[in-house]
Amino acid sequence: MSKINPDLERVLLTQEEISLRVAELAQQISEDYRQNGNLYLVGILKGAFIFLADLVRELTIPHTVDFMALSSYGNSATSSGAVRILMDLRAPIENRDILLVEDIVDTGQTISYLHKTLQGRRPRSLKSCVLVQKEGDVSHEPIDYLGFTIPNVWVVGYGLDYAETYRTLPYLAELKRSVYTKDAS
Ligand code: IMP
Repeated sequence: MSKINPDLERVLLTQEEISLRVAELAQQISEDYRQNGNLYLVGILKGAFIFLADLVRELTIPHTVDFMALSSYGNSATSSGAVRILMDLRAPIENRDILLVEDIVDTGQTISYLHKTLQGRRPRSLKSCVLVQKEGDVSHEPIDYLGFTIPNVWVVGYGLDYAETYRTLPYLAELKRSVYTKDAS
């Protein structure tokens, strides 16, 4: 990587590493759901849009894509606490096989909320596929398909942002602490 944005500390996952792992996850998911009907993938906006787009194009089973948008952390790199639905699914999910597709799990609050909310709609099955999980306390439902575990730092790229910036970088990088602490002061 010759030129890296000066706001970034280091690249944690290269484009090649991500793409290999996404293909592996898609292969595993395709095998696991081969005997089922249509798989209903629920991408969580905005962060998961690139991961989901790459993942579904590697699937070899029939599937449908839908999205939900949740309240985010705003412009801060710390949790605001409450999770709320900003945009809901287009269709009922009763008796369907649901795969939640999330970009990142940090505290686990978002994924726990999603699990609880979607489980209440009586799907046939509900699993999750997450690109990266931060190291630390795990107090949420187990992740069924996990791409990578990363250190507990703020990361951007491959769909993930800081204050709506850096989302379209092709790799996943650690943001310099000075970038987000300066905004907080
Ligand atoms: P959790 O509820 O603490 O697990 O946080 C999940 C949500 O917070 C993710 O879906 C992201 O939108 C956001 N988030 C947490 N950590 C990061 C990060 O390092 N970079 C970008 N977004 C993050």
